[in-house]
Amino acid sequence: MQAIIETRQLTHTYSQGTPFEHTALDRVDFSAQAGEYLAVIGRTGSGKSTLIQHLNGLLKPTSGQVLFDGADIWEDKSRTRQVRCQVGLVFQYPEYQLFEETVYQDIAFGPKNMGLDGDEVDRRVKQSARFVGLEPGVLEKSPFDLSGGQKRRVAIAGVIAMEPRVLVLDEPTAGLDPSGSARILDNIRTYHQEKNACIILVSHSMEEVAREAERLVVIHKGAVPFSGPPEEVFAHGDELEAMGLGVPAMTRVFARLRSMGVDVPPSVYTIPQAREAILAALHRGPRKAALGLYGERKKEPADMDVSAPPAEFGMEQASSDEKGVR
Ligand SMILES: Nc1ncnc2c1ncn2[C@@H]1O[C@H](COP(=O)(O)OP(=O)(O)OP(=O)(O)O)[C@@H](O)[C@H]1O
Ligand SMILES: [Mg+2]
Repeated sequence: MQAIIETRQLTHTYSQGTPFEHTALDRVDFSAQAGEYLAVIGRTGSGKSTLIQHLNGLLKPTSGQVLFDGADIWEDKSRTRQVRCQVGLVFQYPEYQLFEETVYQDIAFGPKNMGLDGDEVDRRVKQSARFVGLEPGVLEKSPFDLSGGQKRRVAIAGVIAMEPRVLVLDEPTAGLDPSGSARILDNIRTYHQEKNACIILVSHSMEEVAREAERLVVIHKGAVPFSGPPEEVFAHGDELEAMGLGVPAMTRVFARLRSMGVDVPPSVYTIPQAREAILAALHRGPRKAALGLYGERKKEPADMDVSAPPAEFGMEQASSDEKGVR
């Protein structure tokens, strides 16, 4: 299947030919399919923002290519312009880039630049504001009178209003509290599902990418050492640790259980998966699982109710944490 967006041997060198020369991307092959939800993860300075700014032509390759629908985005000026509407980019801390007098005008900026007529711009502004949960009354306010979370939603609405086929978000939850983060991630998921758009989420958080994305692309020192579904990538736990990334806490707990001889799968990274794996282990062999997990028990395993997890598992807690998690 042809990728919707792809880089081939993409290299980016900042300040080439000066004493500050720095190669931030080194021959990177990256691709994303239409309708795919993928996450780009990497520690600070690994090259994530540099990579995604190439996807809509904000940066020009030092060498290599960026293709959209199979054609080079730098082929000619009109193609580059067209790609900028099709690949929507929400910057890191996008709220700092709000500049219009009203929220309405800010959201309308992108669709207006696309040359859409007034009625269509109006429809898109209202639809995308609704989409990110902004009340109609907010539209006439100044963006500077809003809370941090609301500002971020205005910035996302401004990109969604262009109805991009690829929506790229650079750390969209950075600096937000857990409920603000959950709302933004819900909006992104809904956009993905309703528009069948390709989502590229840049994140530092292993927990976040494990919950949200179908595929992970790891970036380290300007190269891509691994990509694949979360369970495949998290199987490289030691290498990820060495890159300063680590794996989700749940994956670490299960690796420890396995090292203790408990028969649980290696690909656990979310709370629902953990619950399933533990219940399966208890059903399979209550004695082995119970001894592995709890040491000596007074109660005979035969007396245990394996359909309900024991209280010391903390599953009560786990299921309330899980609210809002897919
Ligand atoms: N405009 C620039 N000029 C020179 N070097 C730059 C520039 N922008 C980024 N770099 C360098 O390129 C490398 C990659 O930076 P980039 O911003 O892509 O990393 P990142 O993975 O997005 O980091 P973070 O998680 O902190 O946002 C870093 O070493 C950075 O210092
Ligand atoms: Mg960055």
